[in-house]
Amino acid sequence: MNKPKVLITRKWPASVETKLKQLYEVSLNEDDRPLTPDELKSALQNYDAVCPTVCDSLPAELLNASNKRCKILGNFGVGYNHIDISAAKANSLVVTNTPGVLTQSTADIAMTLLLMSARRGAEGDRLIRAGKWQGWCPTHMLSSDVTGATLGLIGFGRIAIATARKAHHGFGMKIVFFNPSAPDPSVIEELHATRCDTVEDVMRSADYISLHCPGGPGTRHLIDDKMIRLMKPSTHLINTARGDVVDSKALIEALRDKRIAGAGLDVYEGEPNIDPEFLTLENATLLPHLGSATLSTRTAMGEKVLANLAAFFEGREPEDRVV
Ligand code: 8YV
Repeated sequence: MNKPKVLITRKWPASVETKLKQLYEVSLNEDDRPLTPDELKSALQNYDAVCPTVCDSLPAELLNASNKRCKILGNFGVGYNHIDISAAKANSLVVTNTPGVLTQSTADIAMTLLLMSARRGAEGDRLIRAGKWQGWCPTHMLSSDVTGATLGLIGFGRIAIATARKAHHGFGMKIVFFNPSAPDPSVIEELHATRCDTVEDVMRSADYISLHCPGGPGTRHLIDDKMIRLMKPSTHLINTARGDVVDSKALIEALRDKRIAGAGLDVYEGEPNIDPEFLTLENATLLPHLGSATLSTRTAMGEKVLANLAAFFEGREPEDRVV
């Protein structure tokens, strides 16, 4: 029997690529060059499975392409806002993602950004590299306490809860959050967390606000100028979710006018093309979408895609089926 044809859109960790080669007639992306819309369209027409990442935009125009061979999109990542899910469904395409395995590494990056923004870590590093450090003094680069401060989470799914655990148990932070649905009461109890009725309540009350809602049309610019104006001047905003959850222009203005203390960002509107204004702001800490970027996490993500593909091709229900 012929092996299914599988296309992997970007370079994956070597051990997973080796397994893919054993199991499938696979096309890898050795050069790791992002595919063009035309290349993605032709992938949908010529492969049984296409495995995209956050960098591969799959809107309805592409998913509606004629003569598709593709039956499954095995997404490498938990977020799938780059795939038009209703168009996938309308085209009878199965979509799977990789939840669970990147929870801790992404929560670690949220804490990294929180600590760096609070303690001016990136700014200090830049100062030393610029040869401008003149030595210790009692009032140099004073910053904000993390221990004992209040962390507000927008969204309270797996990654938010993992972040809250690190913050609460590791740094004694108080936890407040907004989530549309009620979480497991035992988690609230464990973290002595307070559920707020609105996003606005979190914006007003927290010292650090960390975003953990999904991306996509439903949350686009959820954090806009009005929301940012509710933040205290001492508050920091952390985004490891999706760039378009925040109105970048409004955030840039707030940082420039010092209406908020800082922002720690891992994701950006239109990434990797970052608004150049961000680069001029000392109070912005900028990471290049590193949330899940540890070797073991990225390998585990690849293994999850492998398990989802195996289930699909063996006629079983893939564990992480989105649609
Ligand atoms: C992934 C992420 O590495 O899983 C996600 O949703 O945001 C990332 O950390 C990326 O999406 C790969 O597709």
